[in-house]
Amino acid sequence: MSDCIVYYYSKTGSNTFLAKKLSDALQCKIEQIHPRTNLFFPLMILSRFSFGPGIKRLNHDPANYKTIVLVGPVWMGSLIAPLRDFLKKYKNSINRLFFVCCCGSSDVKKEDKFGHAHVFEKVRELTGSRIVHCEAFPIGLVLSEEEQENSEMIMNTRLSNDNFSGEIQERFDKLVPKILNIESVS
Ligand SMILES: Cc1cc2nc3c(=O)[nH]c(=O)nc-3n(C[C@H](O)[C@H](O)[C@H](O)COP(=O)(O)O)c2cc1C
Repeated sequence: MSDCIVYYYSKTGSNTFLAKKLSDALQCKIEQIHPRTNLFFPLMILSRFSFGPGIKRLNHDPANYKTIVLVGPVWMGSLIAPLRDFLKKYKNSINRLFFVCCCGSSDVKKEDKFGHAHVFEKVRELTGSRIVHCEAFPIGLVLSEEEQENSEMIMNTRLSNDNFSGEIQERFDKLVPKILNIESVS
């Protein structure tokens, strides 16, 4: 059994960036999740309900890995359909799971209606004892305090090598050893 793999879904690139950075740091495989439809509106609406379009067959079977890192965005306070469909399909094959999202909601607003805390709760509900840790990378961390008040800025900012520094980098640097250390537990 291999140690670790990163699976991810991303619409506008921030979670692709984060997933690639994680797979580089963890030196592990990475695979994109492809929903059966990539039409954004149906995907977003279905994310609000408890059913989704399903995902296409994966190249790497999650059952072959000790640790799964699942990465993706938050839409409308929901565990988005591609990630939820992944978890529903493979939850019994998952040994242990880290759930990671680059999202719009800040730590302060995580409990608000559209905050990431609800998504973490849903992940825990779905995966029970398999979930080890959930981590948010609020996109506002790469903006100034003033810019963080501007919802348009929040929605239009993408993670990149140019802005991945400071607090968001520190958060990343703390997460990687958490995953690596659990990796060493057989
Ligand atoms: C339609 C839509 C709805 C969103 N709703 C939320 C939300 O409810 N909570 C949140 O934290 N972020 C929300 N976001 C922000 C995204 O989670 C954030 O922009 C994320 O970094 C996008 O990831 P991606 O570039 O990998 O697709 C929303 C973004 C879009 C496009």
